[in-house]
Amino acid sequence: MATMAILHGLSPTPIDQCRVLEIACSEGANLIPMAYAIPGSEFVGFDLARLPVERAQARIRELGLRNVRILKRDILDSCEDLGQFDYIIAHGLYAWAPADVRDRLLQLSSELLTANGIAFISYNAKPSGYMRTMVREMMLMRVEGVEDLRQQVAEGIEFLHFVAEAMPQQETYRELIEKQLQRLESRDPSITCHDELSEAFEPVHFIEFVRHCEQHGLAYLDEAVLPPPPDPGYKKEVRSYLEKASGGDFLKQEQLLDFVRMRGFRETLLVRADRKIEREFAPGVFRRLLFASQANAAPAEKPGSRVFELSSSIRMESNHPAVTALLEELGKIWPSARSFRELESMLAEKGLVLDTDGAALLIRLAVAKMIELRSWRVPVAPVISERPRASACARQEARKNGFATSLLHTRLTMEDEKALHLIQLMDGDRDRKALFKAMSTAYPDLTSEELEAGLESSLSIMQRAGILEA
Ligand SMILES: C[S@@+](CC[C@H](N)C(=O)[O-])C[C@H]1O[C@@H](n2cnc3c(N)ncnc32)[C@H](O)[C@@H]1O
Repeated sequence: MATMAILHGLSPTPIDQCRVLEIACSEGANLIPMAYAIPGSEFVGFDLARLPVERAQARIRELGLRNVRILKRDILDSCEDLGQFDYIIAHGLYAWAPADVRDRLLQLSSELLTANGIAFISYNAKPSGYMRTMVREMMLMRVEGVEDLRQQVAEGIEFLHFVAEAMPQQETYRELIEKQLQRLESRDPSITCHDELSEAFEPVHFIEFVRHCEQHGLAYLDEAVLPPPPDPGYKKEVRSYLEKASGGDFLKQEQLLDFVRMRGFRETLLVRADRKIEREFAPGVFRRLLFASQANAAPAEKPGSRVFELSSSIRMESNHPAVTALLEELGKIWPSARSFRELESMLAEKGLVLDTDGAALLIRLAVAKMIELRSWRVPVAPVISERPRASACARQEARKNGFATSLLHTRLTMEDEKALHLIQLMDGDRDRKALFKAMSTAYPDLTSEELEAGLESSLSIMQRAGILEA
C-alpha cells in the first residue's frame, strides 16, 4: 500500500511507525503476522464473529504481542474510540455485505483515515461478477430447503454439472458453466459456501464502487498490485482505443478496461479526496524505494545475455547491462533489499539513469515480477545464522495450521511433516548440530545423509522465504 502511494507521489506514514486498522479481520491471519514483523507500529482489528476473534486473542496472548488488539465488534457500532489510522484494510467484506454495511465501511474508512492515510478495500467486480451471480443463483435455487452447508455445496455443484452436460459440447452456455465449475471444484467447499452461497453477494462495476467512495470523500489511488504482464492494459492499441473512447477520463478508461479484461476482483487503494495523485510515476520516486529480486540467474545462449527465472513458467532473458547487473546483485542478497541510492552509481555505470526511460524499465521489471519494490526494510535474516531463528509467529502457525507466514507477508505451505517439525525447533537456541540431533531423534528411520541434506535444503528454503529472523 505504501509502495503504491509513493509511486504516485504521496508521502504515506512509514510502515515501521504507523497505525493499521483491519475491518472484518476474522481470526487475524493477516493482522497478527504484520504486527509481529513490525513491532514499532500499532495494529487494531475487529470482526463481528465471536469465535474467530477469540482465537485471534488467544494467539496474540500466546505470542505475547503488545502492539495488536483484536475486538469483537459490529461495523455498524460506534468506532470512535479506536482513533485514527494510517492504513485501513477491509478484505472480503464489501461484496458479501448488505447495503448498510457497505455504506458504513466507506463512511468509517473516511472517518478514521489520517490525512495521508491509505485504505485497501477488495470487492468482486463486474463483468465477471455476472458469471458468478449466475451460477450462485442457480445453485441457491436448486438447494433451497437443504440445511447442511456441505450438502448445499455438493448438490449445487452436481446441479451445475447436470445443466452443463445437458447442453451440446462447445455450446457457449455450457463452456461458461464449466469454467465456473473449474473454479468451484479447485477449492475447499467451505470457501464456496461463503463465497457463492452467502446471503449477500453484490459484485459492482469499478466505476460504481469509485462513485460510492467519492460520496464519502475518498478517491481512487490505484490497485494494490500492478496488473501482471498479459493484462490488455499494457497493449498500446488497447490503451489508445480506450483513451479515445473515454474522452481522456481516467476512471472511465479503467472501467472500460475491466470489460476488456473480463475483470472479476479488485483490491483497490483509496486516499482522501483532497490528495494530489500523480497518475504517471515520476522517475524520482524510485529513490524513495527499496529493490529486491528472487530471480535466479543462469547463462543464456546469446553472448552477453543472462536468463532470470522465478519459476519454470516465469523467465526472462536480457542483455541490458544494467538489468543483468541489477538482477544478479539483488538475486545474491534476496530476501534482503537494497535502496535505489545504494544501487544508483552501479546502475548509472551500466547505462541506467533515473530518467523517463530508466523509470519505465524499472516498472516493466516490477510488472514482470523480476524485481519487488518495497517501502521498508523487512527484518529478515540475510544469511542462515549459527543458531537460526524462525519467527515465533511462523512457528506458531506451523504448529497449528501447517503453513507459515513469512516476515515478507507471504505464505509458505509445508506439506512435509519434517519441515513443519524443523521450523518449530528453530527457536534461536539450537545450532545446526542440535537441530540435526533433534531431527534424528524425531525421525530415527532416516539416515544421517538424508537428515543432513533435508536440514540444509529446508534451512535454505526458509531463509529465502523470509521465515528466518535477522
Ligand atoms: C470473507 S470473511 C473475510 C475475513 C478476512 N478479512 C479475510 O480476508 O480472511 C468476511 C468477514 O466479515 C465479517 N463481518 C461480516 N459482517 C460484519 C459486520 N457487520 N461487522 C464486522 N464484521 C463483519 C465476518 O464475520 C467475516 O469474518
